[in-house]
Amino acid sequence: MVKTRDTMHVSLRQLRAFEAVARLRSFSRAADELHVTQPTVSKQIRLLSDEIGLALLEQIGKKVFLTEAGEHLYTTCGDWLETWGRFEQTIADMKGVKKGRLRIASVTTTKYFMPRLLGPFCAQYPGIDIALEVLNRDRLLERLARNQDDLYVMGVPPEGMAIECEPFLENALVVLAPAAHPLAKLGRTVRFAELASEPFLVRERGSGTRLTMERLFQEHGATANIRMELGSNEAIKQAVAGGLGLAILSDSTLGEDHLHHQVCVLDVEGFPIRRSWYLVRSKEKRASVVATAFLDFLRTHISLLGHPTPEGQSGG
Ligand code: PGA
Repeated sequence: MVKTRDTMHVSLRQLRAFEAVARLRSFSRAADELHVTQPTVSKQIRLLSDEIGLALLEQIGKKVFLTEAGEHLYTTCGDWLETWGRFEQTIADMKGVKKGRLRIASVTTTKYFMPRLLGPFCAQYPGIDIALEVLNRDRLLERLARNQDDLYVMGVPPEGMAIECEPFLENALVVLAPAAHPLAKLGRTVRFAELASEPFLVRERGSGTRLTMERLFQEHGATANIRMELGSNEAIKQAVAGGLGLAILSDSTLGEDHLHHQVCVLDVEGFPIRRSWYLVRSKEKRASVVATAFLDFLRTHISLLGHPTPEGQSGG
């Protein structure tokens, strides 16, 4: 029955759970994102739905659909959560840089260096609580469009969005091959055209690495011969080591050991492709004191990673 009283009692937790399920169309992904269990998410949504007095979601098989009431609530939720986020930010600013929350969304490949940068920052500002979401480029762009985070880190900033991009770290793309691959033993630079007949292991659609690789093949008027799509850089490196094919990945993924010499970086014409990692901010979101402190920290401490800061590059 639809509630007739004036005030509904809904909590921010319930709204956050609903927003995440509605956006991701999945209870389990929402639970992962919110760092709670799936039954907790289901319970929050049941309570919310009871309070509102109408069903908000419908599940058919594994698919989650929004009811009409759910669609209305999803739109409203985005506005509420953003307003509440701004309020939290104002309060944090009033308390000064020592306390507050910093929300960062970072593309999958940055997991090799972002946590290492966060450590010293947290040590300097122990009162700052950091929420780091690591996801592929498409999912990160969804968050950016919904203005969900203070800061985004990615290799291919989007065009046509009201954002500020700042290159802050070198990001070179390399071609990986099994160490015993014939192309690794040529004793000369491999021509790009020679890659076209090789089987490639690629990241999932929606990944920035995949997008860059596809653009590269297009620029050369070639089509990559895709043998297998894998959802993680680690899985790709293992598959290269196993002799399944070649891969184009960021050198950030390489680490120190090159998988104990089972994988090598090929000397290919035009490679390494020098790009940047970008710090991206929405122009529509005022930078909090905490976010500004983090940006300043990154600019001065990037040498912690032992990489030069790229110069003279712009986003887009
Ligand atoms: P990815 O992004 O981790 O989603 O592939 C990398 C990039 O943007 O360069």
